Amino acid sequence: MGATSAIAIATSRLLAARKASFYLVARSGAKLEAVASDLRTRGATSVTLKLMDLDDTAQHPQMLESAAAALGEIDLALIAHGVLGDQEQAQADYSVTEAILRTNLLSPVSLCTWLGNYFEAQRRGVLAVISSVAGDRGRKSNYIYGTTKGALNIFLDGLRNRIDRHGVHVLTIRPGFVATPMTAHLRRNALFADPNTVARGIVKAIERRKDVVYLPAVWAPIMLIVRSIPRSIFKRLNM
Ligand SMILES: NC(=O)c1ccc[n+]([C@@H]2O[C@H](COP(=O)([O-])OP(=O)(O)OC[C@H]3O[C@@H](n4cnc5c(N)ncnc54)[C@H](OP(=O)(O)O)[C@@H]3O)[C@@H](O)[C@H]2O)c1
Repeated sequence: MGATSAIAIATSRLLAARKASFYLVARSGAKLEAVASDLRTRGATSVTLKLMDLDDTAQHPQMLESAAAALGEIDLALIAHGVLGDQEQAQADYSVTEAILRTNLLSPVSLCTWLGNYFEAQRRGVLAVISSVAGDRGRKSNYIYGTTKGALNIFLDGLRNRIDRHGVHVLTIRPGFVATPMTAHLRRNALFADPNTVARGIVKAIERRKDVVYLPAVWAPIMLIVRSIPRSIFKRLNM
């Protein structure tokens, strides 16, 4: 889901080399065709394409049923779509906030509801969802985006608590800064990771059946420190 995301492409390339079959969902036809032909040349067994705006939650059940039919069965779902959104516009206009919530939170929650039930009935499967370190603590510079990811983290914690015992692996992926189109407008610094590094971390976390993974790993201690700053100090920081 969100197959044209730079992180999703890098992850899919690693899976294509293992002869995976794909059902790719994205909203841009030209980009999706390019991703599909790249995956075919890298070894994908089969690639089925679905064009859709993933904000359209009413269409999710039908799309996921067609994914299951095309693949025979679904082993792994990677939910990668998202928008950074404009924090200042969202502060001024709730409709902008609502649009960010719809794409980053309501849409993944809808997909995970269907997929969680599907995997639970199948008694196996991997539900890997790209969240963000931004969900660990609300910061003035991006708390709308952070809210979507923080709420998603809690949803995934609860879903895992419900279906892990039925053989379903729920993986929450929390990347730090990654050099992708989403962050193209930001000045790059040493903390920016390459999407290929993040993709390798995602595949490793799936293999090791991790619950939550910070990528790259350096973000785990960084966020431990950020979370432990007392509120009385945190509220005065310019972050
Ligand atoms: N880059 C970072 O620093 C960073 C850090 C932490 C977490 N993340 C998360 O990583 C995930 C992937 O992002 P990325 O860094 O790979 O950025 P990206 O390359 O810009 O990918 C974002 C993708 O989401 C798709 N998308 C957005 N809204 C959609 C919708 N309504 N329906 C269908 N597709 C939609 C975009 O499609 P179009 O190309 O058609 O617009 C694009 O393919 C996101 O969830 C993001 O929040 C990124």
